[in-house]
Amino acid sequence: MSKDKDSQPAGIGYVDGRLQADGVSVEAIAEQTGTPVYIYSAAAIRASYERLRRAFAPLDAKLHYAVKSCPNLHVCRLISELGGGMDVVSGGELERAWLAGAPMEEIVFAGVAKTEAEVRAALDGRFSSLVRHAGRFGREGVHGRGPVGLFNIESESELERIAAISEQLGVPARACIRVNPDVDAKTHEYTTTGLEENKFGIYAERVPAMFEAYDGHPSVELVGVHVHIGSPVPQIDPYVDTVRVILALFDRLEAAGHRPRVLDLGGGWPVDYYHGESPAPEEYAARLVPLLEERVRGGLQVVLEPGRSIMANSGVLITRVQHIKQGRQKRFVMCDAGIQTLIRPAFYRAFHFIWPVAPEPHQLPEAWMERPDLPDLVECDVVGPICETGDFLARGRPLPEVAQNDFLAVFSAGAYGVSMASNYNDHGRPAEVMVDGDVATVVAERQPLASLLETERTTRKLEFSQAASVAR
Ligand SMILES: Cc1ncc(COP(=O)(O)O)c(C=O)c1O
Repeated sequence: MSKDKDSQPAGIGYVDGRLQADGVSVEAIAEQTGTPVYIYSAAAIRASYERLRRAFAPLDAKLHYAVKSCPNLHVCRLISELGGGMDVVSGGELERAWLAGAPMEEIVFAGVAKTEAEVRAALDGRFSSLVRHAGRFGREGVHGRGPVGLFNIESESELERIAAISEQLGVPARACIRVNPDVDAKTHEYTTTGLEENKFGIYAERVPAMFEAYDGHPSVELVGVHVHIGSPVPQIDPYVDTVRVILALFDRLEAAGHRPRVLDLGGGWPVDYYHGESPAPEEYAARLVPLLEERVRGGLQVVLEPGRSIMANSGVLITRVQHIKQGRQKRFVMCDAGIQTLIRPAFYRAFHFIWPVAPEPHQLPEAWMERPDLPDLVECDVVGPICETGDFLARGRPLPEVAQNDFLAVFSAGAYGVSMASNYNDHGRPAEVMVDGDVATVVAERQPLASLLETERTTRKLEFSQAASVAR
């Protein structure tokens, strides 16, 4: 496969007919770690981060990596070292981002249902759930770590909760209001987040009243607006429409005497799952920079929250064929990876290119596509080990003839692979390997069964007060 930089990840591709991550054979890795295994290329992570940063450099946009796309500590650490802040949506992700080395002021915290405990930990390290464990992960100073740089507020009730807790703790909070711009991101209905019918954000019309109510508030400072309209957003127009909604809102806020100075545009920047599927980051930037550059000159800080665009094509999932079954209607290739390792095909009907790691020379695909124009392909369903009919990675897909124990590569699995993995049917989470140059490092061990069973090892009777016992 050619290493066309628009469609192919820097770092993961076929070299002399064998799949490699940077300089290392993925077969050699998979033989050592076992399968399924996610393999990430550090070179590809650096290249995709840098490409996005450069595209939006005219806005001096600050990139906050969406931890949810691939939360591995070592991936987060690499991106933090590149200068990226972190975008988190739970108390767990918050602790990861901090453990990975991100300073708290470089963390933005979104999420629709923040609990009191999560808000406390985001404001004051004494309430971190890692308070007794941080040292084991090589990070000290949890107590004095300070508050997150920004809360992205999803509802008025949440703002009240944050204000009350920050007052109680005596720790001021900075916040953006997440606006629901009622713009269709033209993506799968489950990943559209900017329509009125979606649970995310607050309607633009409500926002001026909220700025008014919190003007001069002693514990919460509203500094701007956050939007995230979907993931992935495969067209540019929805971003343009969104920015127009926000600029009109900024005009209204300014007319009322407020000074919004942060615009967090969220994530959703798409990648190619098949050749030529998505516009490049530069094309998004070309449409968005002219809309925002004057405001940036006037002091507006633009934030982006990319996840998929950094990680999807920086990672590949390697699975081993366990059995082939020729049914009357279909041929099934049964693998050890399924929805427990990559749920996107089943959940969103998402396409992932799948191909043997060592195909015959005449079957090397020129590009990722659903139906490559190559000889001797056999149509099959690529399915996993899970007891669900919906457990598939691909359906009706022409593939080279494969045999038991062959390795298959599931491409573009670096984002929303391991982060959406589950223990369903008691499968441990796969190992994760990072390749940097010619060095391959296991950055997460395969989850052993003992770790799955740990929380069930002992039992504990609940104690009730007398009143609660009577109520029962
Ligand atoms: C608030 C927020 N920011 C950023 C992202 C990252 O999106 P992507 O990985 O498509 O860049 C998401 C993903 O759903 C999100 O919910």
